[in-house]
Amino acid sequence: MIGQAIKHYEIEEQLGKGGMGVVYRARDTRLGRAVAIKLLPPEFTKDPDRKGRFLQEARAASAVNHPAIAQIYDVDEGESGVFIAMELVHGKTVKALVQARELDLLGALEVGLQVAGGLQKAHEAGIVHRDIKPENVMVTPDGHAKILDFGLAKLMEPAGGSPDEVSHMETLARTQAGMVLGTPRYMSPEQARGQAVDHRSDIFSFGVLLYEMVTGQLPFSGNTPVDTLHAIAFEETRPITQIRANLPPSLQRVISRCLRKRAPDRYPDCKELSADLKTVQREAESGISAKVTLGERLREQLASLGGLTPRAWIVPTAVGALLVAVLAAFFLRDKDPFGSLIGLGIVGLFVWRRHRNRRPRLSRKFTARARRLPEVRIVALEGTKLTVVVDQAVAKTYVRLNAILDGINGAMFYGDPFTITITDELGPEEVRTLLKGPGILFMRDEPAARQARPA
Ligand SMILES: Nc1ncnc2c1ncn2[C@@H]1O[C@H](COP(=O)(O)OP(=O)(O)OP(=O)(O)O)[C@@H](O)[C@H]1O
Ligand SMILES: [Mg+2]
Repeated sequence: MIGQAIKHYEIEEQLGKGGMGVVYRARDTRLGRAVAIKLLPPEFTKDPDRKGRFLQEARAASAVNHPAIAQIYDVDEGESGVFIAMELVHGKTVKALVQARELDLLGALEVGLQVAGGLQKAHEAGIVHRDIKPENVMVTPDGHAKILDFGLAKLMEPAGGSPDEVSHMETLARTQAGMVLGTPRYMSPEQARGQAVDHRSDIFSFGVLLYEMVTGQLPFSGNTPVDTLHAIAFEETRPITQIRANLPPSLQRVISRCLRKRAPDRYPDCKELSADLKTVQREAESGISAKVTLGERLREQLASLGGLTPRAWIVPTAVGALLVAVLAAFFLRDKDPFGSLIGLGIVGLFVWRRHRNRRPRLSRKFTARARRLPEVRIVALEGTKLTVVVDQAVAKTYVRLNAILDGINGAMFYGDPFTITITDELGPEEVRTLLKGPGILFMRDEPAARQARPA
């Protein structure tokens, strides 16, 4: 395949192989951009009915636009069969990150929140993913999650009708064992039974994904695919807090609500799920900040006052306007135009100072949160460019620092956003140069053990 062309796509390299075809990196010669091409095996697309349903789903999925969803560019049929052209994602799959233990609790929560956001957008468009699992979520080097393979699972579905539960599970298990689909570990109970699924099936699979990201273990797994399907349909999971004692009970509650056997007992949608996850994230972050001194936390709280969202500005703006009105009325009644000018001048000065201090305030807020990561050595700012030097840059570092950055950029509703460079490759000389320049916001004290001790 390498070096050949499918329609106007030149195949360059194989990226991976899954249950439903091979994925290649390719070049779209018309638009001159790199894409990923997934070539589907003919056995999935030879039935015209099934192919039709799949094409319809893929078309619908291609209309969904969200930063956490790998965009579908094209679905077409070449000489070698039906293929999908999609956004080429750089990075690692969540499966690889879990295996390499590259996600900690906050990293996993951030990836979870991004995935839940993408799912919500797709669900609102009436699209169910049906195959949420760690192989189908990638994390880019700058910490953004991307869901792959939207709409594809439509190809694996039975042709309709309600199959007999037991025989369906057995057929499914046999196909699974035949390595057609991999294992059913992320399926919802209704999916395992061959019943109709809706977006709440994705919420179940999301629960399995989250469980695995924070514990490294699967909630349902048997020695055989049939055992796994049985566990999904009937067995309760071991609480995550029993596997890792330091995981928050609030996260266990979120996961267990995703993993309810009956769809109506789960979260009704990803919006509510995200809101609860966000609370867990906030708790987990403040748990870490307990190590930060009270003074520092107070200072950060003060700084965060500058991080108000546009809606949150309504109150201060209204208060300000009222103040101006009262001052104006006061001075005008006195028929003292000079006094009223002074009053307005004071208010104007106040507003201008707040405006001027906004960027430094936001960068301080970034620093206060970033320095909680133990691997962060230096935070420096030059213009809008933040440089963060870390001991070792792994996925969780990128995921978390970028989440913090997104937070402050989201609070800045005018002006250029901050950009970030995360590096663990600065040599001692480069570090010295960086430290000599202005704009150092934070430098970690080296642990006493590393400093020279008197003999
Ligand atoms: N859009 C993409 N950009 C970059 N790499 C991709 C893309 N899609 C897939 N890959 C890579 O190819 C691998 C195989 O993907 P594929 O979807 O074929 O298999 P899978 O996800 O393991 O199983 P399934 O067939 O059930 O989805 C992925 O694990 C990923 O590393
Ligand atoms: Mg896949």
